[in-house]
Amino acid sequence: MDINALRQITYGLYVVGTSDNGRPTGCIINTCFQVTSENPIVAISMNKNNYTHDAILRHRRFSLAILAEESDASLITTFGFQCGRDRNKYEGRDYSWQHDTPVLKGKFAGHIICELLHVADNETHDVFFARVIDTLPDDGTPMTYAYYHQVIKGRAPKNAPTYVAEPETPNTPETPRPQSTKRYVCEVCGYIHEGELTDDFKCPVCQAPRSCFKEI
Ligand SMILES: Cc1cc2nc3c(=O)[nH]c(=O)nc-3n(C[C@H](O)[C@H](O)[C@H](O)COP(=O)(O)O)c2cc1C
Repeated sequence: MDINALRQITYGLYVVGTSDNGRPTGCIINTCFQVTSENPIVAISMNKNNYTHDAILRHRRFSLAILAEESDASLITTFGFQCGRDRNKYEGRDYSWQHDTPVLKGKFAGHIICELLHVADNETHDVFFARVIDTLPDDGTPMTYAYYHQVIKGRAPKNAPTYVAEPETPNTPETPRPQSTKRYVCEVCGYIHEGELTDDFKCPVCQAPRSCFKEI
């Protein structure tokens, strides 16, 4: 099946935050949509391996910070490529507790606070349906998934529903590449680097070290 049509679906980007027994935790998602308009319900798709997935199931409340083009891009590195199981992703960040959920301060397009209603099992991912219990407006320009790919040059990690594996042999006969140009893929986030890698090289997207890069 040609999955290119799926890549035309548009998304935004969000930090979903919750309480892990009083400790803030959360992750990046691109899958959020409004399900109903009156007394609104929203839905988010969460990979079952994400720590945030389990924390939301326990706490049953979460916040959504709608990322803006002006938002601190390091939020994506911390919340999208690291796991909150053994570290506090909110450490060093300014946030407040609202309705028992962590709400990040800084430039965003707005915040939505939600209460979990029910969960739909979808193999690798659960879809969480949740009632909106409060909103906090902000005036940033919402960051689209396309902006993330085209301007920030970011990719989706394996746990994102929209993850697409990089082909093992991306060099096609139609587009020959000079033999001398080496290409490496970051095994954490899928970022492709062209050219030599120095020993102290770090992935510009997820900050993974040189040892996480494999030549392709
Ligand atoms: C651009 C982007 C989009 C993502 N979208 C989703 C998503 O929609 N659902 C999801 O479960 N994970 C998504 N992820 C992956 C999680 O953010 C990532 O696996 C994170 O490290 C999980 O952290 P946790 O284990 O602390 O929950 C996305 C990551 C990025 C960078």
